[in-house]
Amino acid sequence: AGGTVAAQGATAAIAPAAAVSKEATVLFGSQTGNSHKLAKKLAGKLQDQGLQVTLSSMIDFKPNTLKKIENLFIVVSTHGEGDPPDNAISFYEYLHSKRAPQLNEMSFSVLALGDTSYEFFCKTGRDFDTRLEELGAKRIAPRIDADVDFEDAAQEWLVSVLQAVGQSAAATADASVAAAGLGVAAALSGVATESEYTRSNPFQASVLENLNLNGRGSDRETRHLEISLEGSGIQYEPGDSVGIYPQNHPRLVDELIEAMEWQPDAQVPLRKSAERVSLKDALTSHYEITVLTPLLIEQLADVAPDSGLKQLLAPGQEGELRSYCKGRDLLDLVQDYDLKGLSAKAFTAQLRKLPPRLYSIASSGRAYPDEVHLTIRKVHYENLGRVRYGVCSTFVSERLEAGQNLPLFVQENPNFKLPSDPETPIIMIGPGTGVAPFRAFLGEREELGAEGKTWLFYGDQHFSSDFLYQVEWQRWLKDGVLTRMDVAFSRDTDQKVYVQHRMLEHSKDLYQWLQEGAVVYICGDEKKMAHDVQATLLAILKQEGGLNDEDAAAYLSRMQQEKRYQRDVY
Ligand code: 2AM
Repeated sequence: AGGTVAAQGATAAIAPAAAVSKEATVLFGSQTGNSHKLAKKLAGKLQDQGLQVTLSSMIDFKPNTLKKIENLFIVVSTHGEGDPPDNAISFYEYLHSKRAPQLNEMSFSVLALGDTSYEFFCKTGRDFDTRLEELGAKRIAPRIDADVDFEDAAQEWLVSVLQAVGQSAAATADASVAAAGLGVAAALSGVATESEYTRSNPFQASVLENLNLNGRGSDRETRHLEISLEGSGIQYEPGDSVGIYPQNHPRLVDELIEAMEWQPDAQVPLRKSAERVSLKDALTSHYEITVLTPLLIEQLADVAPDSGLKQLLAPGQEGELRSYCKGRDLLDLVQDYDLKGLSAKAFTAQLRKLPPRLYSIASSGRAYPDEVHLTIRKVHYENLGRVRYGVCSTFVSERLEAGQNLPLFVQENPNFKLPSDPETPIIMIGPGTGVAPFRAFLGEREELGAEGKTWLFYGDQHFSSDFLYQVEWQRWLKDGVLTRMDVAFSRDTDQKVYVQHRMLEHSKDLYQWLQEGAVVYICGDEKKMAHDVQATLLAILKQEGGLNDEDAAAYLSRMQQEKRYQRDVY
């Protein structure tokens, strides 16, 4: 109820601001949906302040309207080696080209999302920020670069943007508008209170099933999770993801505590809250201990000046610092440097919050009401003389049992959606766990009785042990829900075969489907698979469509613009 009162107060207090009738555009570039959500939140708050707000994905934005914008707010993430999200690429390129207009009348601010464990941290947001200034626009609130645990930083940016907008409204209007500042405070008190289950307020869902999908003799372990959403009111669409909160490996937690000679049951405060938990609990469920970042090393060097960490931070040694961080965790760090004597409280105060892990939903909500299914492959490998475990996949494989609770939330993914017309043909390329959302797509099309053609490309190592959901695809083939399936088992033959080889073998038909308006979906490994599959699509366009390099690239980017080429890659 408190939230509602605050929101009403906000509307009343800022009503006069509407007289200024200012315009604002909020643009986002989002891969997994975080930027989109934050952009939506800002747009809502600006609207509450009486502004005329346009909220748009960068890919849907008409660049020739740029000059008319008075206030531009950008929320954008960065991926891999400093890359923009798929739906930001065209706008990013436009703005950085010679075609971009002077923007002397524009005010702007940028929120950049990223990950400090990557070298090109927040590069896309930083580039937008620099470029807008270069084009003459005025920065009315400083850019904020947010790390993986972005909530606090994002909130800070929201506050500073709303304040800047409130102030400029007050400055340009008569005295009656001065109340706008008040409206900001009131509006913000509503920001933190969300009624639905979210990243910061996950639902405690009960696990119904946890099965290994791989057969005997497989190198893989892939878990099929069935989770109950009963009582949550949570809804989702095929293509959306679920974020789940894992626990760190108990052995890693124990060894870290032991190496530091701490007491596992010592009480430590949780970040920015009065709540205290045991150190063991904090390191298990609340903080990230498997990723080293240069930022963390800097912070620890400050609180432990005699640890020797300062040497890692010598100027000109950034490359060495990066390579030290790569593949090491916090246990390596405390073994390599003398951090003993640092209190558990001072140490945990420097750590990032344990971020949720996102997985593409493998079920259709229509086919399984009140349930959500996930497909999670266990990641583990040896490095520097120790077995390293993927935090979430190992937690799910080794320690999550039916009956247990799992904190989760749904993350919408508007960039990976079935076409609204059930007649539209779809081509799905999803080797390995990349096949998960296609189980949701076909389940949905079956429930809807959709008539459009469907074509699945699937691949993994071995037919006999790694054919995830084999029985279901075969049933759908028989029922006509799945029109075609081509599989590539890479380790059953002397020569490796991958999904893209199958695509090339059927390039004529594939091109025909494209000409008929098929939507192409790619899900799975980004670095190798998605890259090679895209190159193959371009090759098919050239070969079958008689296009040159440039025209094939233009064809694909047109498909992307029309949402006929969608990727969910990781
Ligand atoms: P591999 O591990 O035998 O090389 C799912 O992981 C499947 O994707 C596996 O069969 C794997 O093959 C395959 N894969 C690996 N690299 C790939 C690439 N660049 N393109 C397509 N598939 C790939």
